[in-house]
Amino acid sequence: MARKPVDYAEVQEHAIEFVNRFHSEIELMEGIAVEERFPIIGPVAGEFCYQIAKMSNAKKIFELGSGYGYSTAWFAKALEENGGEIVHHTVWDEELSNRAKSHLTNMKLDQFVKFHCSEALEALRQTDDSFDIIFMDVDKKYYPEALPLIEAKIKKGGILIVDNMLLRGRIFDPKRIDPTTDGVRDFAKLMQNSNKWNSTLIPIRDGILLSTKK
Ligand SMILES: C[S@@+](CC[C@H](N)C(=O)[O-])C[C@H]1O[C@@H](n2cnc3c(N)ncnc32)[C@H](O)[C@@H]1O
Repeated sequence: MARKPVDYAEVQEHAIEFVNRFHSEIELMEGIAVEERFPIIGPVAGEFCYQIAKMSNAKKIFELGSGYGYSTAWFAKALEENGGEIVHHTVWDEELSNRAKSHLTNMKLDQFVKFHCSEALEALRQTDDSFDIIFMDVDKKYYPEALPLIEAKIKKGGILIVDNMLLRGRIFDPKRIDPTTDGVRDFAKLMQNSNKWNSTLIPIRDGILLSTKK
């Protein structure tokens, strides 16, 4: 009998079973995402970010598009275990920025976070530093224009993590033409044709691109 093809949703559910949430606030934040239908990266990608930050002994991390701080919390936990330094949280909405401060404080991780309430790419442009990890989760139409800035601000050998590279399969549908889908498609092409990066698409949830700067 032919085996049935692997079901993507079933794999994602299975992957969640492996996650080790380090604080009850993480679960609370996941509940809020469900209630508000807020697009957080979710537990599997969250722990993936934590592990990458741990394995690389990252000290300086910049997040582009941080919402109420769920992905930030995973990075901040890794920084705590790496002996300190900073993850930059960026969001243009003051209410979300304040909520992030409160969640990170409840986990006693706020000392590892610098909060910017502003446009994320502008915040990166204004920051006079270079980064071990840059994580991108802003509106997808900004992905292509963010790349030269990321290249200027990431260290040699630095790690870029990008969320929503699959857009739930929309990128494969030629009838879908809109700024979000085209932003992800154009960004994917830039990375595929670049000789500055090594990239691997990780099929976690909505697709994570893991790239290292040569
Ligand atoms: C997908 S959510 C981020 C979720 C977050 N990374 C997490 O997993 O917890 C993107 C957030 O960034 C904000 N955002 C999108 N584009 C932005 C930009 N260019 N500058 C600042 N904030 C932005 C959105 O309003 C939203 O709050």
